[in-house]
Amino acid sequence: MAGRDEDIGAFEAVVARAATGRASQSIVLTGLRGVGKTVLLNDLAERARRPGWIVAQVEARAEADRTAASFRATVSRSLNQSLRQVTGRWGLAGKLRGALATFKSFSIKTDPTGGLALGIEVDPQRGRADTGSLDLDFSELAFDLAGSARDLGVGVLVLVDEMQDLAEEELAALCTAVHETGQRSMPFYVVGAGLPSLPGALAEARSYAERLFAYRPIGPLDRGAAGSAVVLPAESQGVVWSPEAVEEVVSTSSGYPYFLQEFAKAAWDYAPGPAIDEEAAAVGIAAGRAKLDAGFYRSRWNRATPAERDYLRAMAPDGDGPSSSGEIARRLGKSSIQQVGPVRANLIHKGLVYAPEHGLIAFTVPGMADFVSRQAT
Ligand SMILES: Nc1ncnc2c1ncn2[C@@H]1O[C@H](COP(=O)(O)OP(=O)(O)OP(=O)(O)O)[C@@H](O)[C@H]1O
Ligand SMILES: [Mg+2]
Repeated sequence: MAGRDEDIGAFEAVVARAATGRASQSIVLTGLRGVGKTVLLNDLAERARRPGWIVAQVEARAEADRTAASFRATVSRSLNQSLRQVTGRWGLAGKLRGALATFKSFSIKTDPTGGLALGIEVDPQRGRADTGSLDLDFSELAFDLAGSARDLGVGVLVLVDEMQDLAEEELAALCTAVHETGQRSMPFYVVGAGLPSLPGALAEARSYAERLFAYRPIGPLDRGAAGSAVVLPAESQGVVWSPEAVEEVVSTSSGYPYFLQEFAKAAWDYAPGPAIDEEAAAVGIAAGRAKLDAGFYRSRWNRATPAERDYLRAMAPDGDGPSSSGEIARRLGKSSIQQVGPVRANLIHKGLVYAPEHGLIAFTVPGMADFVSRQAT
């Protein structure tokens, strides 16, 4: 993974401080689609698992595709797995028993059949984390997990991808747990990743959320890192990129990891031998763009209704934006911003656009404006 040393360093500091009993802030990573939030989150998860932390890793689901599995159940499932691993590593001695007992009572409240507590061989701690209120129960769970972790010189980490898709009460419960454990310097941390709308959603859930997290915007890679992302994986396979070919892919991608990945892969697939030259790069870029059009952009465009597409078209002249919401309303021939409010809200809900600031609106997908402007009316 190229160009994320600072973010990784910030997290390594959290791990190191926990080992010596010092507290740190939880972290929220925000960025556009395809910028590399998920791979970074996976990397951080691994950095916590290695020294034996209790780690739960979940992906939030948008309301529309939320299945029976609630946030509570998903967290339980992931925690169960981690607790069994950690128990194997540390043994069931002393304080870990407390963490397991509270986890068991939390998970049984979530699924009375006990399916989420399989393999956790302790009696549940009755009266702990089992009221049924997510806010209360999650905090008690966090507290007891962190208490055990602290005694072992490790911490508890809950990683949430697509965090903007959590329901407000779920965001609130996470904030409460971080806040309450933080006040007593307990090593319980959340690392969330999501669209740039996430800090706003957190602030709405809990007014103090702004102070609770270290917000780290994840952006495109700089030229050096982007070049490394292209060259190093190939080098390890004995394939050499010409400097011109690298330059071509890096500048066309504007450093967006997902674009780099698609262009470089297509160039690699096209190049006949162990060298990738300018021609292969040009072919790769063209093929990569066609693939982005057919998948990355098309899948989102297809999810928009006709009225939503009109709204996106009205945004397109501003490029990657942002656009003024008022100006968009005018372009759509509406006298007031309220008239397009519902369409705008639906597009935000679908994760296609976000409001970087009050009164502004922008695409969550880099390059979407260009795609939209090429679609027939
Ligand atoms: N720092 C990096 N170096 C090299 N490749 C990267 C880096 N970051 C991301 N990538 C590659 O870019 C692609 C997109 O990354 P990822 O899925 O993490 O983005 P994301 O921000 O989670 O996107 P989304 O918002 O759509 O979930 C992946 O194929 C990944 O391997
Ligand atoms: Mg992702």
